[in-house]
Formats: sequence, structure tokens, C-alpha cells
Amino acid sequence: MTADQDSISFRRIGIVGSGAMGRGIAQLFAQAGVPVSLFDTNPAAVESALRSLEGTFARLVEKGRLDEADAQRARAALSPAASLESLADCDLVIEAIVERLDAKRSLFESLEKIVGESAVLATNTSSLSVTAIAAGSTHPERIAGLHFFNPVPLMKVVEVVRAARTADPVIERLQALVRATGHLAVTTRDTPGFIVNHAGRGYGTEALAALGEGVATVPEIDRILREQVSFDGRGFRLGPLELFDLTALDVSQPVMESIFRQFYDEPRFRPSVIAAQRLAAGLLGRKTNEGFYRYVDGTQQQEAEPAAPAVAVRPPVWVAPGPWAGRVAQAARALGAVVRDTASPGPDELILVAPLGLDASAATRAAARGDDGPDLPAERVVAIDALFPIEPGSCRRRVLMTTPATRAEYRDAAHAIFASDGVPVTMLRDSPGFIAQRVIAMIVSIGSEIAQQRIATPTDIDGAVRAGLGYPLGPLSMGDALGADTVCTILGNLNRLTGDPRYRIGGWLRRRAALGLSLLQED
Ligand SMILES: NC(=O)c1ccc[n+]([C@@H]2O[C@H](COP(=O)([O-])OP(=O)(O)OC[C@H]3O[C@@H](n4cnc5c(N)ncnc54)[C@H](O)[C@@H]3O)[C@@H](O)[C@H]2O)c1
Repeated sequence: MTADQDSISFRRIGIVGSGAMGRGIAQLFAQAGVPVSLFDTNPAAVESALRSLEGTFARLVEKGRLDEADAQRARAALSPAASLESLADCDLVIEAIVERLDAKRSLFESLEKIVGESAVLATNTSSLSVTAIAAGSTHPERIAGLHFFNPVPLMKVVEVVRAARTADPVIERLQALVRATGHLAVTTRDTPGFIVNHAGRGYGTEALAALGEGVATVPEIDRILREQVSFDGRGFRLGPLELFDLTALDVSQPVMESIFRQFYDEPRFRPSVIAAQRLAAGLLGRKTNEGFYRYVDGTQQQEAEPAAPAVAVRPPVWVAPGPWAGRVAQAARALGAVVRDTASPGPDELILVAPLGLDASAATRAAARGDDGPDLPAERVVAIDALFPIEPGSCRRRVLMTTPATRAEYRDAAHAIFASDGVPVTMLRDSPGFIAQRVIAMIVSIGSEIAQQRIATPTDIDGAVRAGLGYPLGPLSMGDALGADTVCTILGNLNRLTGDPRYRIGGWLRRRAALGLSLLQED
């Protein structure tokens, strides 16, 4: 890749801290053709960084991903710095040292005395306030955040963080620099978690809440989010709990705690007792071979899913009125069920409801469903999640839920019908919003709040989340794909049934739902 050199306004970049991040950042800019000097208080770290980058360039050339000439140029762009003072001619210094406020502040205080007046100073902090880091310096207007993700060359997004006193031209120059490397530059106000680690709270936190409520097991929750969720066929690559195992709870749990506290106990970010206890027990994930799953030789151990029950006689089906009634009836018919079209259910029929944000028990009441159908006998009621396609050939998993009164023969009949094309079925305990509805609604809700608080533009929020977290869509586009009014119905019912303010509907989302506007629409 050849960088657009004209848009780079920096002549030499200094990098302080040559660990995992420092060397990745050095690689990115060296490949873009910008001279980079690497410093570390531990000289061995600089040597090891340069050696490992040498190996990286050789491998890239071998795989045909980098021309030999470009590799030569990248090698020539890199140099070790023996002291902080030798960064004097750098017009940008990026720090990637230990994540401690005192260390970063004192580094910037030292750097200010070394670099020229117009030099820009940037921090790669993930969790500290850039404003607080800049507060001790004489010229806070030239300090910004430049938040890279690991591994830097592969994670093609960088958050350019505007602290309280950062000057506009500094932000613009950093944006142009990032763009010239081919990475996506997104701009964020200095707030806890910036965009990506803030928007990413919904997925894991809501899954842990569902786990804590005893709605489903660990593998059931992961399978639902991997397989049931489908935005034009695309779901999440990893379930939320196996993702915790990958990042490790000793990293994730402190981030969950810290974001919750930094937003003054915002209930949307409320951490889970389960994760805190598992951290205390040392069940960290892959790196300890035991987390939410067990790992043998690095392979996740999974129990086989139980087979669908064998049901000799399938009762006829009656579908309660509601926005998804047509979809449910069509799917049931396509799966061979006899679906009755009467105004109310007959005496032996299996009754299907497809609630949004309600549990199956609440959905037995016409008033709760908001339709003019009858109240339903709970012992024959089974709920199906129809938020994503359920028709044969269009789905990889179906999710059902029973009331505490549902009789086993009706539960099994529904399971057998909806598994009859070989698509696996997950049967949940009764709870509002199934799993997928509540998790997706929380992702949209938090993304909308980030837009509402003007932390970043809607486009940058969606771009950052797609590139930084690998979600099938950004949170605001997810809301658009489902319909903002549908998301509001899910959240509103969750809020009403649980009384939990984490599900309250924010202004950004509510106004766009009311006006039929896209969630990407700016004010
Ligand atoms: N690792 C990640 O996934 C990730 C992602 C984004 C941001 N970050 C942030 O990047 C920074 C660095 O993280 P890392 O994972 O590369 O850490 P690391 O431990 O791999 O490397 C840190 C390096 O900084 C050096 N160092 C420490 N104090 C120093 C000082 N005062 N002056 C000069 N060198 C010093 C250490 O010797 C070490 O080589 C942290 O602020 C971290 O929060 C990390």
C-alpha cells in the first residue's frame, strides 16, 4: 500500500513505548513511508521491536503482500532512539507506554521541553481520560488521543480523540495522517471508552444479564447470537461469552467496572456478579484453559445439543394476532403444521405468540400484546422470536420460550414443528425480550446515546463499531434494519416489565422512531 504522502503533514514520528502497540504503530507509519523513531525506557524493547518488524516485513514480502522495494523503504523509515531527547526533531510523538495516568502525564511534561513548539503529542490510552493526561502540560491544545487497536496493521480503525482543550487543526492533521495509512479515522470526544469500547458494552453486558437471570445456558446464549441473528445473512462471528474467553476476564471485567463507574453508575453498563466471581476464581478464559468454556489444547469443549423431541401427534396451531403473526403462520405451515385461521383458539390447539420485549406469560394477555385478540390459556402457549427470519431456508436457528404453566406436550410439539427442517431450536425459560431482541436492542440503545451525546457522528459510530468490533452492522444501521419503532417496542416493554432503567428509551432513538427517520439522521 502506498500512502497518500501529500496529506501527511508530519515529517518524523516519535513513538514512546515499544511494546505490543508501539511496534504495531511503528509498522503502520513506516509502511506509509513516514520516518519513525522508537524509544523505550527498556532498550531491549526497542531492539526486540525492530527485530520483530524486520521479520514481519520479510514475511509480508514472502506472502506477496508487500513489494521488496516497499519493504526496503519501510525498514529504512525505522530507527531506534537512544533517549527521549533524541525525539527533538519529531513533529508528532505518540506514546504507547504503561496505562498509568501519572506515567503518561510526566512523560508529556518531559516531552514538552524537548520537542518543537508546533509538535503534536498523542496518547494511545484505552481507558484514561486524554483531558486528564493533558491537564498537567503547558500546551494542552496540541495534545490528542490516537487510539489504535491490536493488532494495529490489521485493525483498520483509529479513534482520533478530541480532549477538552485540543485545537481543531491538531485533530484535522491526525485524521489526515490516519487516512493516509489506509485506516479509517473516526473522531470522538474524550469520554470513557471513546466510541468502540463504549458501543461494545451492550453485547457482553446484556448477555451476562440474561445468564444471571437464568434464561439460558452459556452455549445456548452464544449459539443464539452466532446463529439466530441475521442481518442479510450476517450475524456475530463469536458469541458474547466465548468472546469474554478470548479477551480474558482479567481484561474485560475491569473495563466493564470502569466504564460503569466513569458514567456515574449508568444502569445500561451495570456489570455482572457472575463475571466478578469468575474473575475471582481465576476462570479467565482461553489463557487459563477454563472460562465460560473449557479448552483442551486450545480447542473449545462443547457439549452436543440435545436432539429435538420425538412427538407422535402434532396438535393444530393457532397464532395470536400481532405484527409477526403472518411470518409465524407462514413458517409453521411451511414446516407441515396445520394452522387454524379462527378468531380465537380451539380447545386443543398449540398457541403461538411472537412477542417483542415481552415474556411469554405477559404475551398471554391481549392488553399486554396491544391487540384485540383474546387472553390465552398459558398452559398451551409457546412464544417464538420472529425478529429475524424463521421461514425454512432462511434461518440457522429458531428460538422458542415457554411460560411457567406451559404443558410439556405443547412445548415438545412446538419444538418438534420448528425443528422439522433440521434447523436447531433453543428453548428458553420465560423472560422478556428472548436473548437476541434484548441484546440487539441494547446495542442500538447505547449507539443512539453515543450519537445523542455528540460523542461522535452517526457515520463514525457505525464505521468504528464495524471495523473495531466486527459486528455485521453498526449499531445505528442495525436499528434501521429492524426499524427504530420495533427497537423502541422491545425496549419499552423490557422497561415496563422489569422496571429496570437500563432499558429506558433515549431521546435520539425515540424521536427518530416517532418521525420515521433513520437513526443515522443527524439533528
Ligand atoms: N494491548 C492492547 O490491546 C492495547 C490496545 C489499545 C491501546 N493500548 C494502550 O497502549 C499502551 C501500551 O500498551 P501495550 O499493550 O503496548 O503495553 P506493553 O506492556 O506491551 O508495552 C509498553 C512498553 O512501554 C514501555 N514503557 C513503560 N513506561 C515507559 C516510560 N515511562 N517511557 C518509555 N517507555 C515506557 C515498557 O518498557 C514497554 O516496552 C497502553 O496505554 C495501553 O492501554 C493497548
